[in-house]
Amino acid sequence: MSNNVESIVKGAFIDNELVPVAIDVRVPVVDPTTGAVFTELHEAGTEEVDAAVAAGRRALEQGEWGKLAGFERGRLLSRLSRAILDNAEELVALESRDTGKPLGQAKADIAATARYFEFYAGAADKMHGETIPYFREFFVATEREPHGVVAHIIPWNYPAQMFGRNVAPSLAVGNAAVVKPAEDACLSVLRMAQLAAEIGFPAGALAVLPGRGSVTGAALSAHDDIDYIAFTGSPGVGEMIQVVAARRAIGCTLELGGKSPHLLFGDADLSLAVPAIVNGIVNNAGQTCSAGSRVLVERAHFDRLVGAIADAFGKLRAGTPEMNLDLGPVINQRQRERIERYCDRAKADGIPLLAEGRIADGTPSDGFFVAPRLYGPVDPNNILAREEVFGPVLCVMPFEDEADALRLANDSEFGLLAGVWTRDGGRAFRLARKIRAGQVYINGFAAGGGIELPFGGVKRSGHGREKGLAAMEELSTVKTIIHRHG
Ligand code: TAP
Repeated sequence: MSNNVESIVKGAFIDNELVPVAIDVRVPVVDPTTGAVFTELHEAGTEEVDAAVAAGRRALEQGEWGKLAGFERGRLLSRLSRAILDNAEELVALESRDTGKPLGQAKADIAATARYFEFYAGAADKMHGETIPYFREFFVATEREPHGVVAHIIPWNYPAQMFGRNVAPSLAVGNAAVVKPAEDACLSVLRMAQLAAEIGFPAGALAVLPGRGSVTGAALSAHDDIDYIAFTGSPGVGEMIQVVAARRAIGCTLELGGKSPHLLFGDADLSLAVPAIVNGIVNNAGQTCSAGSRVLVERAHFDRLVGAIADAFGKLRAGTPEMNLDLGPVINQRQRERIERYCDRAKADGIPLLAEGRIADGTPSDGFFVAPRLYGPVDPNNILAREEVFGPVLCVMPFEDEADALRLANDSEFGLLAGVWTRDGGRAFRLARKIRAGQVYINGFAAGGGIELPFGGVKRSGHGREKGLAAMEELSTVKTIIHRHG
């Protein structure tokens, strides 16, 4: 794979080519499984940011891209979906090397990425406008048009899926997409940009700019010729992005993570609830914005319900991608230390550790592995119940009744997902409508899942919607054409 990696990272991907960067700054790329540097990416600086944005503008205003009909864009997306599947083995290897994901999870991620392009391929020619009744001598119609050149700044937790989730709807509506992947994981994204060029995407429709957030990301988001910013990442950087967008009065989407609750009632079907709750926090080693990281449990059934979760938690194992266990390492040493600090703090605060998974024998000692941990009961005001750990750490806390469950669920600065587990249909719907979150599952939970399902946050989880047809609305704008015909 090493030759292959070298041919991916040696520059920025602009106008369908990997171009050498003007100022030679290299950023080491570390394998989270071993802790060893295995390649260096060539950081895109202001010259490459300028070139990528200019290429996008040209593609829209003079090039072939801006002239395509929706169905023609859809065909290209469809071909890219096929190319991703045809090259899945290579993409899975890149993704798991870059992020440490178990091979099974990396396979699922690449399949989901192809599905994003498949879904939006079918939708590209179905963005209808409307006609509006007005005075009799007028004919009024609306149509949706792309924002223009869109900056997509994406994180390291699901690089391939984030690429599909952002870029597929953006291209489907006809934007030119300039993508800044995270320095920690950009290989699959750079490779998919190559595939897009190979299957015939017109020059300038898509650019990928590898580099650090403080350099490449900052230059891209502040560029004075971008028309919209779609950002996924931490609340702190998200705030900065919103300020930068506000300065130029352009729009932005912010997807900033969460502290998503499960509301687990005594009448829940535990054969469904327990695996979903456990998977919802250990999948991707807990590094998922929509991870279910708080479990609110009906007090009268606390021991039985929490006991079932603890039994499953105790069996979890972390290991290398090839071992293909429940979870891999976390992304980097900084993230690992951050998670361990939360666990040290829980210990210092006297929170009982109810169950702990283990790190499998034979995992490299310098890899960034973290044992999954279940804590409880956790005081709702404790830092563990309030902050996003972004690791395989789950906290449980009791509630008295439905009203108390709702109060605790909404007692968070975040509002991304929630899961309600009960056989009482009335209760489930009452809660679903009152929980402040962008998505509420009833008797199910799929952190990160659901290409067709509008997804996004309220409160500090951000604003704007991704996924589903809602993403196409977010990434486009309405033009109203008013024709006076007399
Ligand atoms: P961020 O720093 O927010 O990184 C997200 C993206 O923004 C990356 O591409 C990053 O680039 C870029 N970025 C960083 N600084 C920027 C700037 N000044 N201007 C423009 N772009 C910038 O997140 P992180 O440090 O990777 O993770 C920290 C915490 O964020 C995690 O512990 C977790 O709580 C949260 N997080 C949330 C999500 C989701 S899905 N909501 C995903 C990842 C992390 P570089 O990475 O190359 O610097």
